[in-house]
Amino acid sequence: MPTLPKKRGNRSRDLYDEICARIADGTFAAGAALPSTRTLAAERGLARTTVTGVYEQLTADGFIESRPGAASRVIAGTGNKRQYARASPRRSMSGWAKVPVERLSKIGQRLTAMDSRHVQPTAAGEIDFVYGPLAGTDFPTLAWGKALRAVERHRNSRLEYEDPRGNLELRQALQTHLSQTRGLVCSVEQVMIVNGSQQALDLCARLLVNPGDCVAVENPGYQAAHQTFLAYGAELACIEVDSQGLKTDQLAALGQAKLVYVTPTHQFPLGSFLPMARRRQLLSWAEQQNAWVIEDDYDSEYRFSVRPEPTLQSLDTADCVIHVGTFSKTLSPQLRLGYMVLPNSLVEVFTRAKRLSDRHAPTGVQRALAMILSNGSYGRHLRRIRRLQQGRQRALIDALTTHLGEEVEIQGAASGLHVVVRFRKLPAKAEDALVYAARTQGVCVYPLSPLFQSDTPRPVDQRHAGLVMGYALLEEKMIWKGVKSLANSFRQVTTKILTS
Ligand SMILES: Cc1ncc(COP(=O)(O)O)c(C=O)c1O
Repeated sequence: MPTLPKKRGNRSRDLYDEICARIADGTFAAGAALPSTRTLAAERGLARTTVTGVYEQLTADGFIESRPGAASRVIAGTGNKRQYARASPRRSMSGWAKVPVERLSKIGQRLTAMDSRHVQPTAAGEIDFVYGPLAGTDFPTLAWGKALRAVERHRNSRLEYEDPRGNLELRQALQTHLSQTRGLVCSVEQVMIVNGSQQALDLCARLLVNPGDCVAVENPGYQAAHQTFLAYGAELACIEVDSQGLKTDQLAALGQAKLVYVTPTHQFPLGSFLPMARRRQLLSWAEQQNAWVIEDDYDSEYRFSVRPEPTLQSLDTADCVIHVGTFSKTLSPQLRLGYMVLPNSLVEVFTRAKRLSDRHAPTGVQRALAMILSNGSYGRHLRRIRRLQQGRQRALIDALTTHLGEEVEIQGAASGLHVVVRFRKLPAKAEDALVYAARTQGVCVYPLSPLFQSDTPRPVDQRHAGLVMGYALLEEKMIWKGVKSLANSFRQVTTKILTS
């Protein structure tokens, strides 16, 4: 392991570590010139000899090359985090600094222990059936740009903090929109703008769940929600899901639960729609238990062949439903704009927590959104994007039917931006092989299994390999091409299994 000069103080050690970290994370790419020792010394208030010493050590350790009279440059191949981990004992093998667990809170410790599956970045030319991102070309650039410019022209004379629940014009526009499109029954006071639904889930977990409390969730379900509750110390009670969504008859056996998280309009990921009888059963259970219900309405705008049922929020007579929605599926996940419709009794505490969290969502984008909601541009955009997404979904289903026919069962196509594809002849343990084989053909697909809580047994009808296939990023002809390659990969994997 390379050593640092014995007499160097902490400042040179810190600078050495910092430069190594910037090389590891690609800020200083191979061949990039480092600042001159004079500039860096002046910037950091260090003696030039200190910086020169650090550069000499980086040269000796093989990270940079220095030639007299020329800038020091990063040597190709040193951006590898493993190499840096060896050079710096304070780093973990992943390249991130490791903190001793006792210096973290319980929440920090739970987060550190969590399994995080990172999605592999896709390469140019790959056909990506990812669920989540939207195509940049689908964004309503003209209407949004116009609204932002109008907001800038009419900047308030007082630049002050707003109501933590968000900009009033937006909350009013949203209340009208939600009552017209989702039949929500609420006052403007109950509407809170959040930084995407993820912040709504975080606030709910922080304000409603104590460590050890039972939180009921769908299994399979939305991992970001499950991980949020787990981070705050909840015990998850995993409720099975069938073709009609959450099996609400399993709730009674739970005993005391503090909260239930559901996606009733389009169960994530299986795509079922919770029928009226189950909605009523869920609400009456919540009322008896004094439990909160989070209704995640994340993609209800894309309803293709299913009749709209009343939301849980509009059926709630016990003031226990927290309705959560997002603009991540209709505009962009990068805007970080979502909303909550709170029960009356929770408005005050959520407002206080939001203030202490981040004061409020950024005002400019809220006002721009209010404008496009009120002037009809958002409605026009929705009609357009719904048509586009429906066309993509149809292409995906037609392609799957043509190339894989009876081999697959398609679930959840009545609405949303993804479908689940089950391979009738492949066991769930073959999912990774299928994903890998597809990737070698330039097609990115994503396994269903990680969305099941791993410590619970899977029902018999859920034991086949499955993929969660999003289509929002792809043109129809790419969807056809991708499915054709996927079918080839499926045949390869099946042959291998049969012959092994
Ligand atoms: C079930 C579910 N809820 C909510 C969201 C949206 O999250 P956010 O509003 O934080 O972008 C997603 C995004 O993929 C989702 O799948």
